[in-house]
Amino acid sequence: MSVIEIVGGKQLNGEVNIQGSKNAVLPILAATVLVNGITKLNHCPKILDVFHMIKILESIGCAVVWEGSTIIVDSTKLSTSTIPEDLVKKMRSSIIMMGAMLGRMGSVVITFPGGCTIGARPIDYHLSAFKKMNISIEEKDGLIYCSTTCINGTDIYLKFPSVGATENIILAAVLANGKTRIYNAAREPEIKELCNFLNASGADIAGVGTDNLEINGVSSLHHVIYTVESDRIVAGTYLAAVAGTGGKATMNGVDCNSQQSVIQVLEDMGCNIKCGMNSITIESSGKLKPVSVIRTMPYPGFPTDMQSQMMSVLMKSSGVSRIIEDIFEGRYQNVREQLKFGANIEILGREAIVEGVSRLHGSEVYASELRGGAALVIAGLMAEGKTVLHNPVYIERGYEDICRDLSCLGADINYIS
Ligand code: UD1
Repeated sequence: MSVIEIVGGKQLNGEVNIQGSKNAVLPILAATVLVNGITKLNHCPKILDVFHMIKILESIGCAVVWEGSTIIVDSTKLSTSTIPEDLVKKMRSSIIMMGAMLGRMGSVVITFPGGCTIGARPIDYHLSAFKKMNISIEEKDGLIYCSTTCINGTDIYLKFPSVGATENIILAAVLANGKTRIYNAAREPEIKELCNFLNASGADIAGVGTDNLEINGVSSLHHVIYTVESDRIVAGTYLAAVAGTGGKATMNGVDCNSQQSVIQVLEDMGCNIKCGMNSITIESSGKLKPVSVIRTMPYPGFPTDMQSQMMSVLMKSSGVSRIIEDIFEGRYQNVREQLKFGANIEILGREAIVEGVSRLHGSEVYASELRGGAALVIAGLMAEGKTVLHNPVYIERGYEDICRDLSCLGADINYIS
């Protein structure tokens, strides 16, 4: 079994190029099905979730090739609208294939994705929106059968700005009959990217970047070449690592605007942040102040995908911090592993009280999900002595090569297979 070995206590310095965004490329790959032709996507990350999404595309008849970090998808000939169960079970976000397949084929059969370690993750918003769009939905033996003779544009209000539901509705609406309006749409930068990609392919989406999207159905999309933005969560993870260890490092290819909530917290802790044209530089003494409260929220609030990493950084701050996890109730399962470093964390429902300690010690820990795993890497870098992290496969779902990137900044971190 593979492990990541870390010898902690080193400051991080230098610069690192940030990989393409996982949460942007996954819905865009699903959207290539709507193009009915060839799509070229530059700056794609080589991560497990992307490999899984490519397997899904191939399973329904797409031809997919890599050229460096470019993915070329030919979706001209689709052979089935059934997504294989084993692939859906491997990656929950495969449910964004629903909207794309409905838009292209008028039908899709997909497994119920179920829960995962970070929380229940229901899809009721997706399904009720589809029903409003004249799509019939039948659930039988764990499978969801969706079909329609014609998707009708309509007004949809989301009770909560769900990222996946917003994406699924956009994908179903792009080739629909008439206008779809989404009220209280998610505003994450990855939604904006999906809209930009679709508009570049000939879609008609207005209100891009706002919580009020208006999608006018068009008859077809065309061939496009698109470059995926850098991953704001990977950049945020490395910023957190430098904050925790101390040092000075630059993340290249990053849009500062999408990082404002994370930057604010890092500055509150005492880090010095400088935004460049397309980069962020952080300088940290490694001696950090606590923060009064971090509450996870939909964008532009503090991202739930950065909560665990920030908790690791706060484990060595000079006082008591509060974290409130309002998006995914299961994220605190990772705290059991973070405590092994000698941290002092108390969980009270959705709230975590983190009392900083003066020293963390290396430990043997087990990753059980993507961002929680990255948080354990950060704790290992901040700790004295050796850390052995098991199950690095969870981290590979979203980080191209976390050992390469952090070694580049001077960390003593190795992937042992
Ligand atoms: C996406 C991101 C994930 C990120 C999350 C929140 C991708 C591939 N994944 O996940 O990294 O952590 O956004 O920023 O982009 N909910 C319902 N019913 C629904 C849909 C969602 O109750 O039908 C709830 C969820 O349980 C959760 C909240 O809404 O509490 C947010 O979920 P959502 O925004 O849908 O997250 P994902 O799209 O799954």
